[in-house]
Amino acid sequence: MAVIPSVVFVALLLYILYLTKKRHDRARVPPGAQSLPGPKCYPILGRVHDIPSEASWLKFYEWSKQYGPIYQMEMFGSVHVWISSEQIAHDLLSRRAPIYSDRPQIPNLPDNRTKGDYLALSGRNETWKRQRKLCQQLMATSAHDSLHGYPTMERDRFLYLLSKDSSQYREYVEQFTARSVARLSWGSPHSAQVLRVTTHGLLETISPSGALPNVISCLRHLPACLSPWKRKENARHELEATMLKDNVQYVHERINEGNAPPSFVRTFIDGLSSSADKAKWGEEAEATYVVGQMAIAGALTIGSPIQSFLLAMLHYPDWQEKLHKEIDEVCEGACPQWADRSKLPMLRAVVKEVIRWRPPVPTGIPHALEQDDVYNGYFIPAGATIHALEWAITRDETTYPDAETFNPARWLKPEYPTYKEPLTLHPNLNGFSQFGFGRRTCQGVPIVEQDLFLAMGGMAWAFHITKKRRADGTEVPVHWNDFTPLLIAKPAPFKFDAIVRSEEKEFLLAQMWESGKGEDDEDEEQQQLRQTIWKDMEKRDKGALAAHEHDDDVSSDRGSETSGVTTDTDSTASTGSEGDA
Ligand code: HEM
Repeated sequence: MAVIPSVVFVALLLYILYLTKKRHDRARVPPGAQSLPGPKCYPILGRVHDIPSEASWLKFYEWSKQYGPIYQMEMFGSVHVWISSEQIAHDLLSRRAPIYSDRPQIPNLPDNRTKGDYLALSGRNETWKRQRKLCQQLMATSAHDSLHGYPTMERDRFLYLLSKDSSQYREYVEQFTARSVARLSWGSPHSAQVLRVTTHGLLETISPSGALPNVISCLRHLPACLSPWKRKENARHELEATMLKDNVQYVHERINEGNAPPSFVRTFIDGLSSSADKAKWGEEAEATYVVGQMAIAGALTIGSPIQSFLLAMLHYPDWQEKLHKEIDEVCEGACPQWADRSKLPMLRAVVKEVIRWRPPVPTGIPHALEQDDVYNGYFIPAGATIHALEWAITRDETTYPDAETFNPARWLKPEYPTYKEPLTLHPNLNGFSQFGFGRRTCQGVPIVEQDLFLAMGGMAWAFHITKKRRADGTEVPVHWNDFTPLLIAKPAPFKFDAIVRSEEKEFLLAQMWESGKGEDDEDEEQQQLRQTIWKDMEKRDKGALAAHEHDDDVSSDRGSETSGVTTDTDSTASTGSEGDA
């Protein structure tokens, strides 16, 4: 019975603390300034009850239309500032970078600012500065050498697999991104599957809609024996640490044998051993995590726009036709290569428009403000979490007229505000708002640019991407904007057919598999063989086929969160008879 008075006492205490803090906050607003507008916040809770667990960015966007391009709200006592204008994001995060470049603490990963494991989540401290510099150095070396051709190798493998079974598209897309970045990081794709598992776990650990302590922050104080989130994160972190150390050891062994392929780690080891200025390169233990961070970022993010590209091609078949035309004319039947990029402005426009239309990081990665500030007469308190709401920034009608429409022409025609010449260079992803602001901008743009150009160009070269049809000729519907809720958002599964555009292309795809596959692909080949036999059997079984034609369940595959291939016989790629035109 003593429980009820205790609860009342704690609630009263929290309320008094809240009122005291409120009075203190009000006293900090300098004369002539006022608080930012925003939704009315309730004591302690703020507006946490209003934030949906799915697609939270839509709610924040809705508020931006009500309260303006910069507004404030509270969640459990923390102030959150949401910016929906690129100009304001630049004014604050870039022009006032000295005080806007910190990161907030993540309740479910409380040492994120100080430990130095993930530079994207580190506070603005010496470790972050050192790591960011190393990251830049490693990236520049690889970018200079066109990423050593790894994305092309993996793209060729990916296209072949997709041609064999498009129902597994999420699996193959994630294999492509993880294997490309694993090669770049360590010179080999062998750890790509473990990388996928640990990175997805990290995404859950840090996402507001992932682990509960990120919403109810007091839960972070629970000891590990009472916290399933802590136990899960500890196990994940251990797996990740082993993988990262083993991979660096692997590179050392290859170097000792004299057959180490180029990689970030090899660049680091070579640089350290040959440089007079060892301090410039730092410690190997730290570089292990810097490269780990690059691999994590690469494995996590790039799959999202590749899947959104498929969605765009299904909803906008006219753009698919235009893309086919450009690629066929410029590449004369060959699959687009990175060296062709200056001649393929429409493909680059499609890449950029996919990212604008469906931002992969719709809420942005938050910054933290280190000192009280005043912007245009509005007070922003130190400690506030500052979000550049990428979803809203891409929907600003003055920059992106008719923003809901997927329209690559906005990057190609002078009548649009985003048009820029020369078209041999523009559009490209450098400086695009979707990669952040100021001193915390994304370090991976050269990888994103090349992976997306090759994957989207390759798919457009190889396939007609079409909606599936039922036996009665009606289309199986494809969702418009159903995305996963974590920090990096990906389209929910949908069904489609990827029809190889000609027999010649089917032949070329088989050749590309031979050159793109790795030593570790024996299992994949066995799987392909089993599936081919299975499909031949299925074709003979007309009854089974008819039953499948009525199936319009859009959640067909097991998704990107796990590794391995399922046997969905409903959605297969086949060779069409349309020819190359
Ligand atoms: C479509 C793919 C990607 C998107 C949309 C994306 C977007 C972003 C965004 C929005 C930020 C935060 C910027 C800010 O705080 O203002 C960021 C940071 C970062 N990204 Fe990416 N990124 C992508 C791929 C990659 C890749 C492939 C790498 C590999 C190196 C990478 C490495 C990083 C790093 C290291 C940071 C942290 C920078 C810092 O905090 O100093 N990203 N990215």
